[in-house]
Amino acid sequence: MISILSTQKKFWENAVDGYILTMTDNLESASDLVTLQTIEKEYFPHVKNVLKKHLFTGKKGQLFVLSAPKGKNDIIQFIFVGLGKQDGEPHVEREILRRGICSAVQIIKKHGLESAVIGLPYAKPLGISDAELVKQMAIAAIMSDYEFSTFKSDKKDKRWAGKLFIELGGKPAKELIQAVEEGVVIGQATSHARNWSDLPGNIMTPTELARQAHAVAKESKLKYTEFGREKALELGMGGFCCVDAGSDQDGKFVTLEYKTTTKNAPTIALVGKGISFDTGGISLKPSNSMTGMKFDMSGAAAVIATLGVIAKLKPKVNVIGITPIVENMPSGKAARQDDIVTFMNGKTAEIKSTDAEGRLILADALCYAEKFYKPDVILDIATLTGACQYSLGHFYSGLMTRDTKLAEQIAQTGLLTGDKVWLLPMDDDFKEAIRSDVADLSNTGSSAYSGSTVTASHFLENFVSKARWAHLDVANTACEVPGVNYLGKGATGVGVRLFVEFVMRFSV
Ligand code: BES
Ligand code: ZN
Ligand code: ZN
Repeated sequence: MISILSTQKKFWENAVDGYILTMTDNLESASDLVTLQTIEKEYFPHVKNVLKKHLFTGKKGQLFVLSAPKGKNDIIQFIFVGLGKQDGEPHVEREILRRGICSAVQIIKKHGLESAVIGLPYAKPLGISDAELVKQMAIAAIMSDYEFSTFKSDKKDKRWAGKLFIELGGKPAKELIQAVEEGVVIGQATSHARNWSDLPGNIMTPTELARQAHAVAKESKLKYTEFGREKALELGMGGFCCVDAGSDQDGKFVTLEYKTTTKNAPTIALVGKGISFDTGGISLKPSNSMTGMKFDMSGAAAVIATLGVIAKLKPKVNVIGITPIVENMPSGKAARQDDIVTFMNGKTAEIKSTDAEGRLILADALCYAEKFYKPDVILDIATLTGACQYSLGHFYSGLMTRDTKLAEQIAQTGLLTGDKVWLLPMDDDFKEAIRSDVADLSNTGSSAYSGSTVTASHFLENFVSKARWAHLDVANTACEVPGVNYLGKGATGVGVRLFVEFVMRFSV
């Protein structure tokens, strides 16, 4: 596993095995020239020509590794990472940097380097402060190192453990050192969330995810509560209980609470869908569509991991994490199509598909959040609809809210952190889609309306009455995002970076 540290020494004074050099297009920026001059003086007299001969010109995405002898038995590596012209939108430039960091981390990992240093790229095109920049770099480096190899016998106990130093530009303020530390905490939390999501349904059962949440609570001194079917029935959670009914695994309704010492602080509730495995239930999914349904608890994973970070960063805002965790299974006890269920707030829904189960457990969780915590803001996160990928592809999660200010805040936080969202429309015209002839609501949108990602948000809206609320559909971003090196294969930890930053910025 990688360790990220900050260094107050000047770049070249760090005694490391690898120097990671971020370069701009044509190797012509002032910092590129200084870097190259140093290498020319100390190691390679004609380094610029060497780079050009081997077609490294600093274009975005380019990577070049040069080795020089270190003593008699070792080498030093110079890892050149191209950032391109840096004349695009700041959030695009930051994403280029994240991917460049990942390429470099992959190299130092592959070559088993014990340590490397990376300097601060010129911050201006990136549009953020140095503190924000080092934090983002630390997060990206940790995300780049994540792998799900627990069950690969040949990789067991052979995990690489190298150090990456982030050079703080010669003027190390306390703020920068702290920013690196914060980045490490956030990065590690994304790795936890990814690992929980990557673990399959036979291991990451509701009981196991609740146990993980409990461990996070214990470590970070958060208040933890958990209850199962019996109490859920008492509370009138017809949605939670109907999804839980078919499974032999006990469903767990888990809450984590962070309380600030600041008086009269606002409260944010984060609600995450935790389906440990989604077979579809009686409305059984075709086999092909069932593969990957271990990721259906990614919303809950993001919420639990976020709360762990919040407990460490201690913002001046109360944060509640609420995660209903159940397995969606067919059986003689499972809910049927045509069943009618009553939720905690008294509303009823006709079950048209037991595969639209996420909204059923979320409905009760939203009611629970409002009833017991009276939050100012509720954000929910769920791998809710397969259609989300058809609307948005895999680089933006679906955001639904009628609160334009909240939408803007979340969108901005998405651009800052790289955990991007895109606002989908919530016009009243969609309301008709979830009308039922026999109950208050139908749990699936009528096919005449299409837009199942949006109709799902209209369903959820019925369970929030007072709080400002936004819904995130991450069915398209929680796993298997193509072409983004630091997200790798499998789970992405979507939501952790976004939620942490949203909460931190919400501080009064
Ligand atoms: N967990 C799925 C959504 C999903 C699908 C996530 C593909 C990731 C990839 C969810 O519970 C579901 O089955 N949704 C249905 C809803 C439909 C029955 C209204 C869907 O999207 O098909
Ligand atoms: Zn489903
Ligand atoms: Zn599901």
